[in-house]
Amino acid sequence: MAVRRGDDFGAWHFPCSDPIDFFSRAELDGYACGKPWVTWGRSTEALVTTAPSCYIFSCGYLNGVLSRNGHRPFTELRRQGREVESARGQFVARAEVGRITPGRSEGSPWQLELEELRGRGLYREMPSISGLPGRLIAVEGRQVLNFSSNNYLGLAGHPAVIETGAEYIRRYGAGSTASRLIAGNHEAYRALESFIADWKGTEAALVFGSGYHANLGILSSLTDDRDLIISDELNHASIIDGCRLSRSSVKVYPHLDLNHLEKLLRLNGFRRKVVVTESVFSMEGDRAPLKEISALCESWGAFLMVDEAHATGVIGPRGQGLAAEMDICPDIQMGTLGKAVGVAGAYVAGTRQLIDLLINRARSLVFTTAAPPGTIGSAMAALRIIASDEGDALRANLRANTNTFRRLMQSCLGHSGPAGHIVPFRIGDSDATMRISRQCFTRGVFVHGIRYPSVPEGAARLRFALTSLHTSEDLQVAVSILADVLRDESGPQKP
Ligand SMILES: Cc1ncc(COP(=O)(O)O)c(C=O)c1O
Repeated sequence: MAVRRGDDFGAWHFPCSDPIDFFSRAELDGYACGKPWVTWGRSTEALVTTAPSCYIFSCGYLNGVLSRNGHRPFTELRRQGREVESARGQFVARAEVGRITPGRSEGSPWQLELEELRGRGLYREMPSISGLPGRLIAVEGRQVLNFSSNNYLGLAGHPAVIETGAEYIRRYGAGSTASRLIAGNHEAYRALESFIADWKGTEAALVFGSGYHANLGILSSLTDDRDLIISDELNHASIIDGCRLSRSSVKVYPHLDLNHLEKLLRLNGFRRKVVVTESVFSMEGDRAPLKEISALCESWGAFLMVDEAHATGVIGPRGQGLAAEMDICPDIQMGTLGKAVGVAGAYVAGTRQLIDLLINRARSLVFTTAAPPGTIGSAMAALRIIASDEGDALRANLRANTNTFRRLMQSCLGHSGPAGHIVPFRIGDSDATMRISRQCFTRGVFVHGIRYPSVPEGAARLRFALTSLHTSEDLQVAVSILADVLRDESGPQKP
């Protein structure tokens, strides 16, 4: 039987009746001497001589760390203030703690976890970016075509957006100095929120420090353990985390599956039901059928929360989002200021009472320093552009680029993806995706690979973010470089 690094065996669901026999006969799948390994009981005798330092167990009589210095139970190590990884009732098959064997510090408690991520093709690093993010971007000191920024309208580098932010910093200072409920609620906030409420056609609006903060704050303020949240399976991590934080019952429906959604809406016994969906999905680029979802919510007495992170500024009259384009008014409308708006932060738009409740309850608003005045100034300038004729012109450019890109993808790669400014190109395997992304980068195109947990396992992809700044030549270059890279790659799975 093959055993792989990272395999965990529940102590009470061991894969054979005799663990000692199991490990003595197990095929040590590609693990040479000196690599940490899993073991159990007496069979460690044979393995320990080739192991770098020690093994951790958290089951049975071995509940502790076994090293050449002998076996030390967790209880004893804890008394000495040592850090150990433990999982109650679980056989932990991957932990090595160098610190426990002095002089043999090959591994910190985190080392094997990092190795495991590397082994699964999920290890992440932050690229170094310099200069303004436009159609070109400097990554690791190299100027490349940029298909990785959510700067859909190019506003992050717009002179008026930059100037207004700089002016607000000069006038009001670099930082807001406190939470919005204390000394951080600068008058610029009031102006921005009333602008957003007018633009969205709602009674009121509230600005958060980020979309992540907003989603945590909204969901955990409006629902608790008496409630049911019904969420699309591909909703963003900030929505998933908000659901968890709320302590509500959460039911997930398959992506865009309205029949399943309706089944869940029939469930009873909750104080309140909230359906939450993105309008344009961040990693798929497709759109939720908001009109139908809204009608279902109405029929079954549920609230509708829509995350317009990737539609704000880009879709709908004056860039108000997909809900406005569909002519519906969800109970809770959220959008970010860090994507098409080009700055940072997020808004919630709705009734006055909704906003007042969030001001009173949302811990991610109350217990954090308010976004600095420069951010608020820049966001204001960007939203003014979005709601103006200039915004219409930028959206028309983006639409034209979207159409051109689809045509090019279809003719060169036989795949066009959804009709929108986010174009996923599915590869499947994480390693292959990152390799193809690196190859594209080497040839001058920065298109980031997206892997688990941003998308489900096995659904890794390149994600092209199109902007109004790209020229048709940029699009042509990107598609032909991708086609070349795929040709050179042997065997990546095509969508
Ligand atoms: C759908 C969606 N909601 C919320 C967020 C979080 O927004 P922010 O980046 O402002 O924290 C994102 C960001 O990627 C997103 O894609």
